[in-house]
Amino acid sequence: MPAPSLDWSQHLAKHSQGLKRSAVREILKVAVRPEVISFAGGLPAPECFPSELIASASARLLGKDECRSCLQYGESEGLAELREHLGNSVSRPVEDVLITSGAQQGLDLLGRVLLDSGDVIAVENPTYLGALGAWRPQGVRFAPVVIDGDGLVVDALEKILETERPKFLYTMPNFHNPAGAVLSLERRERLISLAEKHALLILEDDPYGDLRYDGEPLPSLLSLATDRGLADRVVHLRSFSQVVAPGFRVGWLTAPPALHDALVKMKQATDFHPNMLGQRIMLEVVRDDSFPAHLTHLRKIYGARRDAMDDAVGRHFPGGTTWTTPQGGMFLMAQLPHGIDAAASLPAALEANVAYVTIDNFTVDGTGQDTVRLNFSNASLERIEEGIARLGELVRSLP
Ligand SMILES: Cc1ncc(COP(=O)(O)O)c(C=O)c1O
Repeated sequence: MPAPSLDWSQHLAKHSQGLKRSAVREILKVAVRPEVISFAGGLPAPECFPSELIASASARLLGKDECRSCLQYGESEGLAELREHLGNSVSRPVEDVLITSGAQQGLDLLGRVLLDSGDVIAVENPTYLGALGAWRPQGVRFAPVVIDGDGLVVDALEKILETERPKFLYTMPNFHNPAGAVLSLERRERLISLAEKHALLILEDDPYGDLRYDGEPLPSLLSLATDRGLADRVVHLRSFSQVVAPGFRVGWLTAPPALHDALVKMKQATDFHPNMLGQRIMLEVVRDDSFPAHLTHLRKIYGARRDAMDDAVGRHFPGGTTWTTPQGGMFLMAQLPHGIDAAASLPAALEANVAYVTIDNFTVDGTGQDTVRLNFSNASLERIEEGIARLGELVRSLP
């Protein structure tokens, strides 16, 4: 007689039994079919990866004695030269910089060192679903803060701070994922004042800041806080996924000393250190004289795709649709008219070989089924036109 199978409800920890797969990553599995025009992921355009720079950096590194050190175990904080380069880029000391396996690991590590079960986190509603996914298993409660065209509504946060003491505020000031909004300068200043008054820690997640197509860049929350002697109020998270290539899984953050120390200890318990070869290649790429031209090229291509999607949504979606024209980033968010349930229509869209994700995946209260997030960086101009036309036709045909 074969032995009875294990009863996994007895073996899996309680918090693992409550885990859910990421809706976006699951849709991506279906959306990889070549006939599907996918606006679902947050994927950069592979034809824009700086492949030549990466290839020549890899050849240089792997052909040298130095190759031995980039295939060896390394420091948990990350490669010293890369940390120095990144610290200089945000005017923070090298000691504050921690290299992570993508910004996603930064979010995870921060959750693990900062959160206890029952803690409250203030988040924009909607917010990045990867952050919700990283922190939900810790048994936290999310306090939703309204967001509009100028980003997080600071008055709404202030109201929350009158009655709650969130462990931190998580915010995306530049080209918010999924809303596309940019936090205005006035609100940035007020946010730092609130952080001062309420001893509030702010997690500033900024993976898209270099992808601006219109308007002038605004100072980061980190720089505004630093100017006012409040650098310890802000953790600044960044990534190379969007401007170089996500497969390397290299991201970084800055954190004040006590928090940095806790993060390093947690990283040592997690994966020892970041990928050595990936960090070395990244350093070569960002120090190369042609890197600024790569960024300019990326902005040109993505800016044109943003324009194409903005224009196509206007022509193909039904009247009454409202959407933001993002000044940068990778996403356009569109709310469909008459309470159309875009979440329920996703299977029909996939049948028609077009994919998107709905905003209920990004909200803490499950609202947003009538609103879609459309990624414009990954599809060509022709596929954007074709895909939005198909989606428009589908939406118009819904009862
Ligand atoms: C707002 C935000 N933060 C963090 C990440 C994680 O990026 P990565 O781990 O690839 O650096 C993403 C990726 O989509 C994102 O949109």
